[in-house]
Amino acid sequence: MEYKLKDTNSKDAFRYGYLVNKILPFIKPHLPRIVLNMIIAIPLGLLDAVAAYALKPYMDCVINGKNWNIAGFSIEQQLLAMIIPIGIVIFALVQGLLKYTNNYLTDWTGNKISNSLKVELFHKLTSLDPKFYDINSSGLVLTRFFTDPETASKNIINTIKSFIMTFFGIVGLVCVLLYNSWKLAIIGVSIMAIAITPVTFIRKKIKKVSNATMVVGGDMTTNFNETFAGNKIMTAYNLQEMQNQKFEKQIKEQFNLTISLTKRVGWMSPIMYAICSVGIAFVMYYGNHLIISGQMTAGSFASFVTSLLLLYKPVKDLGRTLTDLQSTFVALGRVFELFDLVPYIKNKPNAVKINGLNSSIDFNRVYFEYEENTPVLKDFTLHINKGETIALVGNSGGGKSTTVNLLPRFYDIKSGSIKFDGIDIRDIDITSLRDNISFVFQDNFLFTGTIRENILMGKKDATEEELNAVIKMAHLDEFLSSLECGIDTYVGERGASLSGGQRQRVAIARAMIKNAPIVILDEATSALDNESEAIVQKALDNLMQNKTVFVIAHRLSTINNADRIAVINEGELVELGTHSQLMSIENGNYKHLYEMQFKNQEVNV
Ligand SMILES: Nc1ncnc2c1ncn2[C@@H]1O[C@H](COP(=O)(O)OP(=O)(O)OP(=O)(O)O)[C@@H](O)[C@H]1O
Ligand SMILES: [Mg+2]
Repeated sequence: MEYKLKDTNSKDAFRYGYLVNKILPFIKPHLPRIVLNMIIAIPLGLLDAVAAYALKPYMDCVINGKNWNIAGFSIEQQLLAMIIPIGIVIFALVQGLLKYTNNYLTDWTGNKISNSLKVELFHKLTSLDPKFYDINSSGLVLTRFFTDPETASKNIINTIKSFIMTFFGIVGLVCVLLYNSWKLAIIGVSIMAIAITPVTFIRKKIKKVSNATMVVGGDMTTNFNETFAGNKIMTAYNLQEMQNQKFEKQIKEQFNLTISLTKRVGWMSPIMYAICSVGIAFVMYYGNHLIISGQMTAGSFASFVTSLLLLYKPVKDLGRTLTDLQSTFVALGRVFELFDLVPYIKNKPNAVKINGLNSSIDFNRVYFEYEENTPVLKDFTLHINKGETIALVGNSGGGKSTTVNLLPRFYDIKSGSIKFDGIDIRDIDITSLRDNISFVFQDNFLFTGTIRENILMGKKDATEEELNAVIKMAHLDEFLSSLECGIDTYVGERGASLSGGQRQRVAIARAMIKNAPIVILDEATSALDNESEAIVQKALDNLMQNKTVFVIAHRLSTINNADRIAVINEGELVELGTHSQLMSIENGNYKHLYEMQFKNQEVNV
């Protein structure tokens, strides 16, 4: 199982049977409309032939003043002169109606299928674990989730429809050709066949270029997203120029790809026209001979030449339809590659539900790595009692955040075990496991919406009293009452309109209202001023009351509140004990860290 999405084709792109089987369940609900649409495509395709066919009686009978004999009936010239103009109007009306219905049904079914694919894909996206997001770029994922389902589903209906239409168009027109003169028809059709052969040669090239275009498109989206998410950094470091250049380079690359395609494909049309013109010249020459020798009427000839000219478009379309069909399958392959992704982290069949923590949490000889053969946690063993507050300290990149990320199973460990009340967390129902943990992250992400909505994400059905209580305990009340809309203030994307300390307290309130027995706190490293630090600290103290707490501490005050301190260096637990125990170790890691990092904070507290 591979989590990394490929930039271009999936391995399944050309397993047609497999892909058809996969897409069928999405097509089935709309089958009646699709079939109706396909049936409508048949007369639509045939209409050109009808028009070409009608030219013969028009020229031979109306213009030359003869009666038209068809299938034993004889229609008078005057009557025919009336029927044909009326026929033209009716013809146009019918054609318009059919075209409208056809387009409507195509769009309707195409969008329905595309939407149901997108919904399913979004469910997949939310079900995947963090590793997926670690290794795939946002641009690539966006293209995969938005563009591909659209291309796939709209194309599939469109190509089938076009195929039917062009097929019947060709059949109808060829019949008219044969009806008028089979000798001329053979000449015309063979030259047409020669004219379209170049199409088959360049198809491969088109595919190659379109793959490359897709990659550039993904890179561009990533660039957009980074400009958004990293806007402050970009501005602070004056990186606008760098971003601009990156974008200009990408757009240039896209231009080159497009132009290289135009260069390769652009000569085709003129060549096809040239070959066709030779064909038509030939037909004209031979046709004149047939007319003069009385083997063919002028009407027949006009009808023939019109059919031949009209034939060019559906024949060319047929080639394009086949190419489209291929890109449809490429897109389908990419869509279903995502469908087949299986989250690494999933429930065991008989996973147990837990309700609160009764005795302890145990890390037992845990080994963990993000990437193969780069161990991040090594032989990590730690026993935490219910109600205990444990502070994790250590050098940067040592593995503190990693340790706490393992508890809610953002990632699974390589060996060893993590147990809740003696139950391996891999045997616990994931939702129930996560319901028992409140998490306040290093970077406090808020969703677009109001402060109220963000806090209620901790507990959807919280009462107004509960909400008011956590607002007080998170020391948000003063801040909220200073806002015009109070708790219903809109925070903007990622909570951009709040200060760091405010955002942190909203995140704390969200964790508080969840009221989970275990609290994980990855303390923000960003320094707050003394006053806000004091407020945040009070909010945190309230959050940690009567809970089992893991806190990654960057502040002296947090360490002072902890029952025990665990020092993690280079993925190993190197020291464990109370502040005074650890301080008594000569040349100890903690003692060193304390003197470097925490001691100078004493003045502030
Ligand atoms: N998602 C990830 N994919 C791959 N490697 C990662 C990932 N997250 C962290 N690492 C690596 O794992 C190691 C431990 O990182 P971790 O975030 O646990 O450190 P930390 O102790 O929390 O550091 P800090 O105090 O700076 O927050 C680092 O070497 C880091 O590069
Ligand atoms: Mg960290």
